[in-house]
Amino acid sequence: MADQSIHGMWSSRLMFVLAAAGSAVGLGNIWRFPYVAGENGGGAFVLVYLGCIALIGFPIVMAEIVLGREGRKSPINTMADLAKRSRRSTIWQAVGWMGAGTGFIILSVYSVIAGWVMAYVIRMASGDLAGADSGSAGAAFDGFTQDAGSVLGWHTLFMILTMFIVARGVGRGIEFAVKYLMPALFFLLLMLVGYSVVTTGPAFGEGLAFMFSFKFDQLTWAAVLLAMGQAFFTLSLGMGTMMTYGAYMPAGASIPGTAAMVAILDTTVAILAGIIIFPLVFANDLTGSTGPGLMFVTLPIAFGQMTGGQVFGTAFFVLVSFAAITSSISMIEPACAWLVEKTGFRRPMVAVILGVIAWVLGLGSALSFNLWSDVQLLGGLNFFESMDYLANNIMLPLGGMLIALFTGWMVDKSIVRQQMAVSEGGLLFFLWIVRVVAPAAVFVVFVMTLLG
Ligand code: PFF
Repeated sequence: MADQSIHGMWSSRLMFVLAAAGSAVGLGNIWRFPYVAGENGGGAFVLVYLGCIALIGFPIVMAEIVLGREGRKSPINTMADLAKRSRRSTIWQAVGWMGAGTGFIILSVYSVIAGWVMAYVIRMASGDLAGADSGSAGAAFDGFTQDAGSVLGWHTLFMILTMFIVARGVGRGIEFAVKYLMPALFFLLLMLVGYSVVTTGPAFGEGLAFMFSFKFDQLTWAAVLLAMGQAFFTLSLGMGTMMTYGAYMPAGASIPGTAAMVAILDTTVAILAGIIIFPLVFANDLTGSTGPGLMFVTLPIAFGQMTGGQVFGTAFFVLVSFAAITSSISMIEPACAWLVEKTGFRRPMVAVILGVIAWVLGLGSALSFNLWSDVQLLGGLNFFESMDYLANNIMLPLGGMLIALFTGWMVDKSIVRQQMAVSEGGLLFFLWIVRVVAPAAVFVVFVMTLLG
């Protein structure tokens, strides 16, 4: 096993955890999780989501890191190398290709939403939303997303920031960013949880009950697929991101230990985001099922009513922007590493090429809320919804399933044993999950959803 990657290395195990948690914790936790849970009845969805994290997500995080740290290259080349070394078909490289493609789709959508978040920083800071109530906050959000020009401007700015950090490289770019942004994010989240507990009164209990009461009659296979897709999305799984970050991980660090830290941090942030948002929803007589606008409508209302809300609200959206940027950089890093390996071009140039491609694709999502709101792609979904559905509910779970199968059945067991560095019993348990349990779970959910 090579002990260095040509792209650079994390300076410590902690920095790996911060970078991987930075990738995992993002809009998926704070923006997407609450609204998707809200649209799917709350409790039952959350339970399935947690089950998917533990049973499917966590093992696949380990699998991706095992492959990445062994290969020390971009997912496309790592998959090819490990297939060759294990005397398997290099067709497995296709998993790396699919992952790179998924990365573009996800980044394109992500950049648009992150652009909204940055716009909200300014709106909060300017006092634009001060005193907002449920009517005016909703109208402000609709008015903003319908303004194609400003949505595109913010999308462009966010993409430039992403390209800039990736261009600076693993140490001076990505690690530098997560080192400062992640601790700040945690601090602010905890303050907001405190705020929610103190100010929402009886609605706090209602919010918790909504998230944690398991009403199984509300659960459909379509909702199970969404919960599973969310588990993949939130852990940055199934497209080679964790594999790429694993390629930069120091040799001595324990894979199960660090993967567990990442999964626990990520899940905690999602639950905390729900604990912040749902009580505010109920305290303001809103519903949890407002879709992608949920965070942009409920939080301004809450901040609009509280003392110091302007400062607090501004800080909140600043930090959501940070969470978003520490994730977006991880979406093009796999493709960036590959193109550097392939062409030997300098990283800044590669980062710009890839960012521009994702930016163009993002135009479709940006326009879905205004000029193209009537354009339908997959089964009546607009462009934004189609990209989101395709990436999260199909490509990530499919990629994850293939990565699990590859790790379990194709890669030489001696490689997995050495990378995992656990007892023989632990290794067998891990192999049983990635060979059978995780792939079968994804397969069953796919088939049941198709059958309705
Ligand atoms: N995990 C990120 C979030 O929850 O916002 C999104 C994400 C990042 C998905 C990186 C996929 C990825 F490769």
